[in-house]
Amino acid sequence: MSDFVEGQIGHPEVHTERKIAREIPPREETREKRRINVGPYKLENRIDGGKAECWMCTDTRDGSKRFIKKFPSPKMPSEEERALDRVAYEFQVSQCNSFLEHHQSIARDITSEHVGNGSLVRPLEAFWHNSSFFKIYPFISDLTPLDATTLRSWEPKHRVLAIRSILLALRELHNKKIVHADIKKANIHLIKVPSGSVARLIDFDDCYRADAPPPPTVLGGTEDYYSPEVLVYKGFVSSPYVLKLGTHSDLFSLSLAIHEAFSPSGKKPRWSYTETDAGMHALAGDEVEYESLGTAKPLLEYRLKRCLKLIPTERPNISELLSACGTNLGRVA
Ligand SMILES: Nc1ncnc2c1ncn2[C@@H]1O[C@H](COP(=O)(O)OP(=O)(O)O)[C@@H](O)[C@H]1O
Ligand SMILES: [Mg+2]
Repeated sequence: MSDFVEGQIGHPEVHTERKIAREIPPREETREKRRINVGPYKLENRIDGGKAECWMCTDTRDGSKRFIKKFPSPKMPSEEERALDRVAYEFQVSQCNSFLEHHQSIARDITSEHVGNGSLVRPLEAFWHNSSFFKIYPFISDLTPLDATTLRSWEPKHRVLAIRSILLALRELHNKKIVHADIKKANIHLIKVPSGSVARLIDFDDCYRADAPPPPTVLGGTEDYYSPEVLVYKGFVSSPYVLKLGTHSDLFSLSLAIHEAFSPSGKKPRWSYTETDAGMHALAGDEVEYESLGTAKPLLEYRLKRCLKLIPTERPNISELLSACGTNLGRVA
């Protein structure tokens, strides 16, 4: 396919070499122009931060600001590929359609009225455009990464509020038996509200239904946040225990992320011997050192530590964590 934007080149007969050089934009610029509109979305600023290509964009139907993400894979096969191998082409197309259905059905399920008190930045739409897969989220203009330096000066009440807001977002998913599957510090942001700041959970692209996990090679997430059951499921390690994959897996990862953000060290918890990934320690039955999180809520911190238990069902569930936050957050415990 030509790299030029339709309508940008004049009639070939009037082109001298110099004219062509003046009228045809350099390749980079042309590519920039070609990707300005993705369906009804007009792309604006490129947003750095993750693995995927992301932009701020405007929905031309109603003028709303959106966050758009282009997935690096999978890719919809081309007509050329169809001509080469029709069976392979049709198989790939059906895989791409199932991928779309999966994302649309997850997006439909987390369209609740309350969406975690505003702390869940839920997916709005997913679609194929040309050969690429795109996903749309509301655009949040003042996201600040959840990092230990920002949180260091916060008083206990605001720490609990931030943790509570993440838990509320996650409860939306867990109540519907949806696993986030990529809980990590980079997917939790802060946003200013009149009473201080609350957390926002983003990036629902690896979500799956607890009763239907994707095949091990497809299951997403981030390795140093993998729960023991994910490590076993992916075949990285074996275990004599049956470790069922499900919503408890998120709580393992969440406990690591919260420790990283709120503990004085600003790191993941330490185990009594050196291993790379937390899940490996849990599998080895190793003792974990969980630092104080400065919440003045001993029960909450105790339960967050228990989220690192090897056996998923021995970990607290989201309601138990939420109830340990207490209800009267207006008073510092
Ligand atoms: N809804 C949003 N509004 C504005 N910025 C966002 C939004 N979601 C994510 N971001 C920004 O884009 C970065 C990458 O987003 P993320 O969904 O985590 O992508 P990836 O799949 O590449 O990890 C985030 O770190 C954040 O800075
Ligand atoms: Mg991310």
